[in-house]
Amino acid sequence: MSYTLSEVVPWGRSYDEYISMFSLSPADLKQRILGCGDGPSSFNSILSSKGGSVVSVDPSYSFTAEGIRKRIKETYEVVLEQARKNKDEFIWKNISSVEELGRIRMAAMELFLKDFENGKAVGRYISGSLPQLPFHDKEFGIALCSHFLFLYSEQLSEGFHFSSIRELCRVAHEVRIFPILELGAKKSRHVKPLVAALKKEHYRTEIKKVLYQFQKGGNEMIIIKSPNNCAHHRAGSATA
Ligand SMILES: C[S@@+](CC[C@H](N)C(=O)[O-])C[C@H]1O[C@@H](n2cnc3c(N)ncnc32)[C@H](O)[C@@H]1O
Repeated sequence: MSYTLSEVVPWGRSYDEYISMFSLSPADLKQRILGCGDGPSSFNSILSSKGGSVVSVDPSYSFTAEGIRKRIKETYEVVLEQARKNKDEFIWKNISSVEELGRIRMAAMELFLKDFENGKAVGRYISGSLPQLPFHDKEFGIALCSHFLFLYSEQLSEGFHFSSIRELCRVAHEVRIFPILELGAKKSRHVKPLVAALKKEHYRTEIKKVLYQFQKGGNEMIIIKSPNNCAHHRAGSATA
């Protein structure tokens, strides 16, 4: 699949949102973490500044910070307009208005943009796309995927999801995906068949409630572990 900047709608969540979307504990944050499809979120930049070990992979990282910044400017109002149109699909409690949503997302994306070129130079931002990732087997303790898998269930097939989840399980001991809703705030059509297919191959799956909820009904993540999963990987041990 070729990927051009004009197809990208860059939109990034904050570190605090990642912590609550994935119920990340202090022990989780000591592991080596992969953020798959992190786009312009500030998770990597903040966790790295706190001494965490994190790599983000996203097809948009083949572009420069300036290219991504330009694309954010072009699409920012369009995304907010969509949020205004579909206001009923969201819970306006922690984020009280579309304007506040814009400010929070923009602040997260600014942190990403400041960090991007340096982070890319040291290998914290890597260009790549599911369903094939440029990493070794079990290189990571946890792989996170926020607002990519399941969210685009109409556009991305069950087969794509299955291959992508298996690939994430290949590179990480544990995979967490949030939310399990598709666009329109409906439970993803792929969840049930995928859980059944993964169970057949002896993967362990668990759907867990989390404290985060912005899309109505979007307060569950799915955790997946490989059949051959053993002890968790600690930061620093992965590339030894
Ligand atoms: C809606 S954004 C979510 C960004 C971030 N995870 C967050 O929650 O704020 C979806 C991201 O998925 C990325 N993406 C698109 N196709 C992908 C693929 N095949 N593999 C991995 N990421 C992909 C996009 O570039 C974009 O950054």
